[in-house]
Amino acid sequence: MRRVDQLLSALGYCSRKEARALCADGRVELDGAALTDASERVDGTRVTLDGEPLEFPDGLLVLFHKPAGVVCTHDSREGQRVYDLLPPRWQQRDPKVTTVGRLDKETSGLLVVTDQGALVQRMTSPKHHVEKTYVATLDADVPASLVDVFARGIELREGNETERTEPAVLRINSAREAEVTVKEGRYHQVRRMFAAQGLHVVTLHRTRFGPWRLDASLAPGEWRALELSETDVASR
Ligand code: URA
Repeated sequence: MRRVDQLLSALGYCSRKEARALCADGRVELDGAALTDASERVDGTRVTLDGEPLEFPDGLLVLFHKPAGVVCTHDSREGQRVYDLLPPRWQQRDPKVTTVGRLDKETSGLLVVTDQGALVQRMTSPKHHVEKTYVATLDADVPASLVDVFARGIELREGNETERTEPAVLRINSAREAEVTVKEGRYHQVRRMFAAQGLHVVTLHRTRFGPWRLDASLAPGEWRALELSETDVASR
């Protein structure tokens, strides 16, 4: 239970001072009755503002279909951001709304967006071996021998060192298209794995991140909230 003024400000609606004014104006209700005292402690799921339920009062967790050409950073100098395609109020929330890991600017597909820091830690930690699946199109035919090469691991240059990737599963879909599942999240990993074998990735699209898949109903730029049961999956 939280004070109403703290709640509205943490969910990005307004400042605490403005929240007090909204309460005084009778625009905030608890179970349909006006909440005039902004210091009252409430369950956010039972509160409305101008008749609308509050958005994700217990935490935000959504699946987003990232289009190619947008960046996952918060810095707008790097071009259009994922956050520019999401509701602006989310950027006013505290805790901060971030992506769970990142995709390259030119990579499209499934991105998880949340304000749950513990989930971000868990899903991006190398210890947890979260599986990610990508569909890559290549500039040349994919040799069948690459399946074994990916399964054995590939030496990627990291500065002066070379470190072998963990076993990855490669499935060849057609001459120039392959699906690859990795458990790590190294910088440009999939592109570099193919590059190490002399193949250039033309398009890269993530279809799966841990327990979540990108469903066909989610168009590029669209998001959907995860159900509580799906949230449970995430917190295991
Ligand atoms: N591997 C890449 O090369 N790029 C991504 O965006 C994700 C995985």
